[in-house]
Amino acid sequence: MFDLKINALTHAEFLKEYWQKKPLLIKGGFADFEDPIEPEELAGLAMEDDIESRLITNHDNKWESYHGPFEDFSLLTETNSTLLVQAVDHWHPVAAELLEPFRFIPNWRIDDLMISYSTPGGGVGPHLDQYDVFIIQGEGKRHWRVGMPDANLKEFAQNKSLLQVEQFNAIIDEVLEPGDILYIPPGCPHEGYAVENALNYSVGFRAPDTKDFLSNFADYLIDNELGKTRYSDKTLTLRESSGELKNDEVEQIQNLMLNAIQDKDVIKRWLGNYLSQPKHDMDLLPLDEPISSDELANYLSSQVINRAGGVRTFFQNLEDCLLLSVNNESFQLPFNTLSAVKFLTDKTSFDADEIISSLECLEFAEMLTKLINEGFYYILEEE
Ligand code: SIN
Ligand code: CO
Repeated sequence: MFDLKINALTHAEFLKEYWQKKPLLIKGGFADFEDPIEPEELAGLAMEDDIESRLITNHDNKWESYHGPFEDFSLLTETNSTLLVQAVDHWHPVAAELLEPFRFIPNWRIDDLMISYSTPGGGVGPHLDQYDVFIIQGEGKRHWRVGMPDANLKEFAQNKSLLQVEQFNAIIDEVLEPGDILYIPPGCPHEGYAVENALNYSVGFRAPDTKDFLSNFADYLIDNELGKTRYSDKTLTLRESSGELKNDEVEQIQNLMLNAIQDKDVIKRWLGNYLSQPKHDMDLLPLDEPISSDELANYLSSQVINRAGGVRTFFQNLEDCLLLSVNNESFQLPFNTLSAVKFLTDKTSFDADEIISSLECLEFAEMLTKLINEGFYYILEEE
């Protein structure tokens, strides 16, 4: 539905030259861009309890931020205000289509689609993000400035929930028009102010840091009763000072910890769950009358299978099987189901007949039955 052109670059060239390296202005990235959502619909989402939203105003240089859900939009004034709604892809299937052109970047790196609506002068101020983002201009125009990372730039709290950065030199300074796109790598300062009422779509990515990985891995060890090898010292000898923790003891503790992460199988199973966890609520519709795996082939025959918005899925190759992960749950499958597994991970919509022969594999049929019963994948049943 949305056909992305990254200037004259191929996806491979974009990754090599720009991804995580430098910002890029993509003029007319989506030709004849049509907004997949109306501002009123966005406001409707911002009224929901389960949906994360914010409103930021900057009247007379005073920045204020408010958290949703909102009962009314009196704060969204004719100028200097912005409404931001997170993870719209979980709730709005048409808007979710905007993630698809960016799936040349792996599923597990994609985070969510955030949409903002700004009135003239409105923005969130100069700031840094820790993650890559593509910002697509929808209706209206917005003036954007983007700089290169600069370790000397100081961040400060404009108010208790709005972190900004001091003024920076821009290498992109441009008024974006509908269909234009900015790619901004992590740490590049940027600011955008609406010139006219403007919709902006941010395709955001995720990249946990070392402490995120380690703390989540520790939780996985606890939950799965792993990591129980205890420190031991059968070779303990007398030492000069009982007050010293010796280098070889430190090394032994390091090795104990390293051994826990050396096991590729454990790491892959943990990553399957961790990296497929959504950060936001899901809008799933479980089947009213669950089907059994015996009924699945008949239920799916000649239908189109759709993946629900916000479902996070990817597969890994283990030693003796495939591991398919879907929203914090993993399934072991034989290697001969790979082509069917790829439909589930790589496509958001496909003909069920493409995978029907894999239903002969019991593990595959049981896995898909569960995912369909729970609403992760669905067919549009006739009324
Ligand atoms: C916005 O759309 O106002 C914010 C996008 C961003 O700068 O991250
Ligand atoms: Co930003």
